[in-house]
Amino acid sequence: MTVKVAVIHYSATGTVHALARAVAEGAASTGAEVRLRRVAELAPDSAIDRNPQWRQHADATASMEEASLEDLAWADAFAFGTPSRFGAPAAQLKQFIDQASGLWEEGRLADKPVTVFTAAFNRHGGTEATILSLSNVFYHWGALIVPPGYTDPIVFAAGGNPYGTSFATGTSEDGPDASTLAAAHYQGERLARTTLRLRAGTHALAAAGGAEGSVDLAPGGAGNGKAAGSGAGSVLRAHTSPGR
Ligand SMILES: Cc1cc2nc3c(=O)[nH]c(=O)nc-3n(C[C@H](O)[C@H](O)[C@H](O)COP(=O)(O)O)c2cc1C
Repeated sequence: MTVKVAVIHYSATGTVHALARAVAEGAASTGAEVRLRRVAELAPDSAIDRNPQWRQHADATASMEEASLEDLAWADAFAFGTPSRFGAPAAQLKQFIDQASGLWEEGRLADKPVTVFTAAFNRHGGTEATILSLSNVFYHWGALIVPPGYTDPIVFAAGGNPYGTSFATGTSEDGPDASTLAAAHYQGERLARTTLRLRAGTHALAAAGGAEGSVDLAPGGAGNGKAAGSGAGSVLRAHTSPGR
């Protein structure tokens, strides 16, 4: 079984791009099929030209494929990367995500694992806030947030952000250090492995007849949690899926 992972990011000056590559490599190292994509630049050339690093990165990545809604439909899991913009995601990434309402309405983003990584200039400049802010979207999608947590010593070595790999660009002129890249690689690997487990579990359940749990709602009942095939799960879904 192969899982499909879309690594979708925005990067002005290359930091998040370096993290995205490491996340993509981590996912691919598990055997996953990976699409590494950048979202479209929205800033005018006049703004980009004022920052040589921005211009250099924009030119260097011009031939890289842009993310499309088809990538979201295709993927079993997503990794999103964005620089911090006042503690929130970049408008370029948000603009891309805001075009996904049709997929959301069709329920095609639900149940897909998702993870987030970021960069900010300052160590305490809002990386966690940026990840949490972007993650609001994924609650609405009904996606399954897969943070690195403190599941591996590599997370501590990279500064200990359990929400997602992050790098403070102000600490180095050379881009993300080896520890941060290793943490990003691990994050991509963890996303892909988690997705594989979920899909394998879904297949196993389907093969076993699709048994679903039930809750005993009778007065005084104590909910036995045993599979009874009552279809309670599907009733819930009918009332909660977007667009239905
Ligand atoms: C409009 C704007 C807002 C920013 N806000 C923050 C911020 O709140 N905190 C911070 O530490 N850095 C902030 N930065 C710096 C960027 O987050 C940082 O340069 C970026 O993470 C680098 O990523 P990139 O190289 O992938 O573009 C801001 C930059 C811009 C242009």
